[in-house]
Amino acid sequence: MNSFPSVLESIDDLSKDQITTLISLTSVNKKNIHSPSFSSNRHSVVATIFLENSTRTKHSFAISALKMGAKYIDFNAETSSIKKGESLEETFLTLYHQGVELCIVRTGVTKQLTEFKKHTPIKLINGGDGVNEHPSQALLDLFTLTELTSNLEGKTLAIFGDIVHSRVAHSLIKLLPQFGVKVIICGPVDFTPKPQELPASIEISHNRDEAISKCDFIYLLRIQKERHASHLNHVGNDEDYLTTYGVSLKDLKRLNKLVPVLHPGPANIGVEVDRDLIKSTLYKGYLQVENSVPMRMAIIQSMLDNNDNQVGIIHGETV
Ligand code: CP
Repeated sequence: MNSFPSVLESIDDLSKDQITTLISLTSVNKKNIHSPSFSSNRHSVVATIFLENSTRTKHSFAISALKMGAKYIDFNAETSSIKKGESLEETFLTLYHQGVELCIVRTGVTKQLTEFKKHTPIKLINGGDGVNEHPSQALLDLFTLTELTSNLEGKTLAIFGDIVHSRVAHSLIKLLPQFGVKVIICGPVDFTPKPQELPASIEISHNRDEAISKCDFIYLLRIQKERHASHLNHVGNDEDYLTTYGVSLKDLKRLNKLVPVLHPGPANIGVEVDRDLIKSTLYKGYLQVENSVPMRMAIIQSMLDNNDNQVGIIHGETV
């Protein structure tokens, strides 16, 4: 896709037209997922650099690259020269000059990829950075929502849980209103951003049942303890959390609100969601996983094909 960014860090890096095109490409990819036509990418090499744990994001990007006919490298930071003090920029330039075209990066450092937007050492996709964003997850969630309803315009999605520390929530808050979706965020005070940190259209609630009663879709989040400051280490017991800000199948039946329930994963059963709900047909977490491959194929392909000839250039003095 022409003018597709070479660093996809945030939903802000994409125009609405580009997002709409990604949704269309994902739909085509999903229909042709077993087609050999993607083998035109057989000269491309794609790498994941995951400095934090992952099951879904890392493997779905890997599977996407392989399905597209590209070669895939799982860069191991623990055994790499990053451990000898090599910077991320030098790591990217080294991989680029070895023939890697594109890296998917997960990092604990918020906005770590921003510095690479001006001089881009290698094409980069943010696979989750600190407490900032997780754009590819939000995009595949948008695609999943388009499959669950014929018209998103005017629908309401309520996000429950640890919104402050959730990178996907931050991406969804930017993405969904562009497509006419009203977003409610609902969680304990420590887990909800302050109104001044949010677009005016986002509604904040601390009342789970009230938020459920207003929504067409539920989006659950795990408590992200690994990103909590020490004062948040005690968030109460799991049972109390489930009955105040988690969602169970019984809750949805009691409120007569049998709406689709999304979750980016990993889910902590018995904390933000109960086992009966996750095993029910209302739960769409596995559909999101299924959709992750065609959406990530669309993102990789759009970036590989963006004709950016400024990538990998070494910026320094000519002597
Ligand atoms: N949704 C998501 O980012 O899951 P992983 O941490 O397993 O990649």
